[in-house]
Amino acid sequence: MPSENSAVSTALQVDPAAPILVFDSGVGGLTVLAELRKALPQAPVIYAADTAGLPYGTKTEAQVAARVAGLLGRMTERFSPRLVCIACNTASTIALGMVREVLEVPIVGTVPAIKPAAAMTRTGTIGLLGTQATIRQAYVDRLEQEFAADKRLLRHGAPELVEAAEAKLRGEPVNPAVIRRAAEALRSMPGGTEIDTVVLACTHFPLLEEELADAFGPGVAFVHGAQGIARQITRLTDGQDFARAVPDRALFTGTRDLTSSYAIALARYGLEGGGLL
Ligand code: DGL
Repeated sequence: MPSENSAVSTALQVDPAAPILVFDSGVGGLTVLAELRKALPQAPVIYAADTAGLPYGTKTEAQVAARVAGLLGRMTERFSPRLVCIACNTASTIALGMVREVLEVPIVGTVPAIKPAAAMTRTGTIGLLGTQATIRQAYVDRLEQEFAADKRLLRHGAPELVEAAEAKLRGEPVNPAVIRRAAEALRSMPGGTEIDTVVLACTHFPLLEEELADAFGPGVAFVHGAQGIARQITRLTDGQDFARAVPDRALFTGTRDLTSSYAIALARYGLEGGGLL
């Protein structure tokens, strides 16, 4: 069992320039990075997007697990991060346990914010918008049993919203029909008119919160996990020094460096450089 002193010395051994690696299939993880910036503005960050694998939500569990484990293995060797944040509900609900077993670096995942939603709802009916892969995970069943057993949780997989969020961050217009369809899908389920709280269970979806709020109409609150994740990262890095040696950057998988397509959005999140992974 590590003593208090050994915990302190571990914290002191961390290279102040060691980054926090924030990982998603695309730009959704920026919604987590935004909260991390508020909590730890001095922390060096590498943002990694598996754009060659996007979208994860329409892939099988085996495909997502293999990509996530392979990429995180490669990236932890290359960048020696002090901590990895899997800023993706799909990757986390499928592969978090597995990657924690194989990688020797603290890993913080992103899972649907069912617990806070259950505490917020007044009608007892919660909507959950995620990817198709996320909404079928046993991980989500367990969260529902543990925190919302006495509530009605209505789940909808909305891959079109992932595309819409990506487009929005490239500066393209959001198709209102896509947003409307997602809201109507939940509203038209038995009990759906009672929804007063919606869990944004995909890190891309908070990028569309304004549009979704319009589509759902007044009286619906949205909840996601980004603030909680930032708090958890702050706790796990407590006592560590931070010193940015190089500008924070965004890295993409595949053969196309997408930095210029997302340049304005990336700069908004403090990511100055970019490149291919
Ligand atoms: N941002 C990811 C999530 O939180 C999923 C997007 C995708 O389908 O790749 O689930």
